[in-house]
Amino acid sequence: MRASGATLVLAVVAAAVLNAAVLCSGGFTSSFVRKVEKTVDMPLDSDVFEVPPGYNAPQQVHITQGDHIGKAVIVSWVTVDEPGSKLMTLNIYYEVGIGHTTRTFWFTTPPAVGPDVPYTFGLIGDLGQSYDSNRTLTHYERNPAKGQTVLFVGDLSYADNYPNHDNVRWDTWGRFVERSVAYQPWIWTAGNHEIDFAPDIGETKPFKPYTHRYRVPYKASDSTAPFWYSVKRASAYIIVLSSYSAYGKYTPQYKWLEDELPKVNRSETPWLIVLMHSPWYNSYNYHYMEGETMRVMYEPWFVQYKVDVVFAGHVHAYERSERVSNIAYNIVNGICSPVSDQSAPVYITIGDGGNLEGLATNMSEPQPKYSAFRGPASAMQRSLSRTGPMLTTVGTVTRMDMPYKLIPCGFSTDSGILLMILQLLNLEQLQSNGCI
Ligand SMILES: [Fe+2]
Repeated sequence: MRASGATLVLAVVAAAVLNAAVLCSGGFTSSFVRKVEKTVDMPLDSDVFEVPPGYNAPQQVHITQGDHIGKAVIVSWVTVDEPGSKLMTLNIYYEVGIGHTTRTFWFTTPPAVGPDVPYTFGLIGDLGQSYDSNRTLTHYERNPAKGQTVLFVGDLSYADNYPNHDNVRWDTWGRFVERSVAYQPWIWTAGNHEIDFAPDIGETKPFKPYTHRYRVPYKASDSTAPFWYSVKRASAYIIVLSSYSAYGKYTPQYKWLEDELPKVNRSETPWLIVLMHSPWYNSYNYHYMEGETMRVMYEPWFVQYKVDVVFAGHVHAYERSERVSNIAYNIVNGICSPVSDQSAPVYITIGDGGNLEGLATNMSEPQPKYSAFRGPASAMQRSLSRTGPMLTTVGTVTRMDMPYKLIPCGFSTDSGILLMILQLLNLEQLQSNGCI
């Protein structure tokens, strides 16, 4: 496909719209359980990959947050026959295309950033373009919690599974997810399937298709590369990190994160969420310890700055940690076991969006103490029923010296391990829904 891309930043001028829908109960919202067996990608002539009609029709339309605070969006799309598309804006509606064929989409402007602003995120990773991928996206669209933004934890199209990293599969993926991402922002994280490093076919520059197709507002958070950046959204401060960029001391990512964490004002955004692709705490026998070196570098900061929750993908399964840290080690003392630490984040792996590689089911035994729960969807649902909400501190609490809200009813899940819904509720909503 001879595709030309276009990206524009659109300032958001409409009034903020609060989503008043509240689904308070933690737990799960679907009894669906994904089959364990490997799946296959949908064929190129699938209806979800359909090219929109009309000469040079814009396709693969997607939006993401366009600045640091949510007052802008980045709109991107692809035209096949000729470049030169334009963007016209009309309030929260936007029209892409020029002359022959234009298409219109819309989005909801986010609420102003603030400590009591409710918001609902979808959590999806490792999506791909298989029949199960389509189920995941459908479950997300139909979830009664009505996710407003997707936090995507990496591995988008899996185009690199095809000969020569066939970019046609990047195009099909863009058309497949358009039905959601053209209407609400997805916050992107780079995974290993975005690297597209293929010196055998002369491609020596990593991340080329990903960075050309999926723009992010990294400069707005003083980042120097699109692989690590931050955005504020409602009551959350979201930091995106790159498992596949240099993160050692003195590197650009290290220096950025070192400067970034002190900037987070928990009075304004009480939730501090980190996204990355490769999990730090993973007791499956897949990608085991791949995140270890990054954990060694950054975990002390996560504890110091009291990150709430870290979401990762990569392992095609679900796992949730206790609040633990493993930062006491040095080469002299040999202390290298995770310990309970109420200043530490909860680590959640949600890497089963449905890609063709299938589920991860093989775990190290016995289950490590730090691992609060792991397992297939059916077992996870039993666990949730038994133990209740996933963040267990109730109500408004003060954690260390900062006013801090942990929302006991903040999580629900859909489809077991296919995706999660993260709901940030305010005190009034919690009370009115009987959560506290
Ligand atoms: Fe991955």
